[in-house]
Amino acid sequence: MGTSQKNNGDNERDPRYKGLDRVLKRLQFQQSGLIEVLTSAQEAFGYLPEEVMIYIATQLKLPFSWVYGVATFYHFFSLKPQGKHTAIVCLGTACYVGRSSEILDAISKEYDLDPGQTTPDGELTLSTARCLGCCGLAPVVVFDNQILGQEAPETTVEKIKEVVGGKIPAKAVSSC
Ligand code: FES
Repeated sequence: MGTSQKNNGDNERDPRYKGLDRVLKRLQFQQSGLIEVLTSAQEAFGYLPEEVMIYIATQLKLPFSWVYGVATFYHFFSLKPQGKHTAIVCLGTACYVGRSSEILDAISKEYDLDPGQTTPDGELTLSTARCLGCCGLAPVVVFDNQILGQEAPETTVEKIKEVVGGKIPAKAVSSC
């Protein structure tokens, strides 16, 4: 199968599905590529939401129960967001050129967190991704499922602090 199917309106709006589509195409929609696809999905979403697993199952023509079984079998897959808030910094080429590593460093320093860690109070989980499928907005950070484009270290940290501090909801800081 050479074309991807969209299974709901969210997929049209969320560019992370485009990144997922690219991985699926590169693997020629082979079912043997399931773990690689799940790994890419977790990088992009921070965990494996049910709708993403359903999308992957549809694309690979696998039963959802199979995809779910694999996702729960391996400890490195997470089915739930870890912290109350999640920040995913893209370190793919376009974002890296746009200084995304400095954004990562700034968040790490502010919250004393390494990628993959959650603050002791469970407020924020920090992680990284290789490409989130929206390179035109580089450098990109996904914060609480909102895609923030053309970010800079100082402004990203400020946006995260406002939300983690409880002043405003994440949607209010989305830049696209
Ligand atoms: S490199 Fe593609 S979204 Fe960051």
